[in-house]
Amino acid sequence: MSSLTNKHILLGVSGSIAAYKAPDVVRRLQDLGAKVRVILTQGGAQFITELSLQAISKNKVHDNLWDKEAELSMGHIELAKWADAILIAPASANTIANLASGKACDLLSSVILASDCPILIAPAMNQQMYASDGVKANLSTLSKRNITLIQGEEGEQACGDIGEGRLAESGEIAKQVGLIFQSTKLSGKKILITLGATMEPIDPVRYITNHSSGKMGSALADACIEAGAQVTLVHGNISIALNQKATSISATTAEKMYQSVIDNISKQDIFIACAAVSDYSSKNIEKNKIKKSGKNLILELTPSKDILKEVCQLDKKPICIGFAAETQNLVENAKNKLKNKGCDAIILNDVSKDDSGFKSDENEVIFIDQKGSVKLPKNSKQKLGRKIIEIIGDKFL
Ligand code: C5P
Repeated sequence: MSSLTNKHILLGVSGSIAAYKAPDVVRRLQDLGAKVRVILTQGGAQFITELSLQAISKNKVHDNLWDKEAELSMGHIELAKWADAILIAPASANTIANLASGKACDLLSSVILASDCPILIAPAMNQQMYASDGVKANLSTLSKRNITLIQGEEGEQACGDIGEGRLAESGEIAKQVGLIFQSTKLSGKKILITLGATMEPIDPVRYITNHSSGKMGSALADACIEAGAQVTLVHGNISIALNQKATSISATTAEKMYQSVIDNISKQDIFIACAAVSDYSSKNIEKNKIKKSGKNLILELTPSKDILKEVCQLDKKPICIGFAAETQNLVENAKNKLKNKGCDAIILNDVSKDDSGFKSDENEVIFIDQKGSVKLPKNSKQKLGRKIIEIIGDKFL
């Protein structure tokens, strides 16, 4: 799998003659597996047509902050959330100055302010402009903000000058975007993730279950695989297809899930308990369907094994990350869970909201460990998965 497989790259094309190379940049990003959307600034549109970029990217080109129609489909906030990385190529002196001063004067600069993803800029301008104190100072400001600079190359320029300031080669630009996603910390690590909902049978046709879809666990698995880890998934009932690169084990009840985890845990570096495991199982599973009688029916339930807690108590315990799906006293409950289960971190989900958490494609969580907490604002589960994995790598590996 190449480094940009299924990554969303938002390409900003600004006003430089090198904008004529932007379709090739789109192609090279696509060659590495990326899905590309383009924002074209007014300056950029002087050098390359919207139609060319639309044809190559296979997506509508975004060019206006004030377009009511665009705001309805994908406005600047949606574009910022969509992007896994933003690349500006070519980046003109004016666009660089806008970013350095934190302006929101057009669509591109507004999206940059609204995004929390990695940003890369590939400047292209006349050698004298590139060497000017103003541009140098702005580039230095941007690099302090962790914006990656893809250096301009030396050579003959469109204006006839010779010097530094040519747009880097398209293939090189795409390669540098790919490098952003290469995590070394998780490379080769073994990670076991539980996900989905357990189903505790009562009789041959009925069971107790919950709303978990497995989407968050699946997004975590994708992020681990992208980062080079070997992933084992122990899953209950799920409503999504799992990454083919993972080893998947189906375990529908809490007991079976416990057994599958214990059978596979010894070689793992990290255990992520993302499954919504039933806290109780039916004491007696009726052989035949329970008949309607008109009277009250009392089911006797016994507590199921707490898989996460058991793994945390192993002599050779992996790094253990749990989830807490809470509806009240969120942080307090999550902190108690961190302590009671003895795990290294708890990821807190507020499942009282309809638009995030269970079943939804989006989520917002708080990552809590012994040292403090990090809030991860609402975003797609795919993007949150990557963030969570990045934090686990930074904190524990
Ligand atoms: O105690 P509670 O069920 O709220 O804790 C949630 C966390 O513990 C989740 O990470 C869940 O996957 C894990 N868990 C478990 N085994 C259970 C119950 C929960 O691993 N029986």
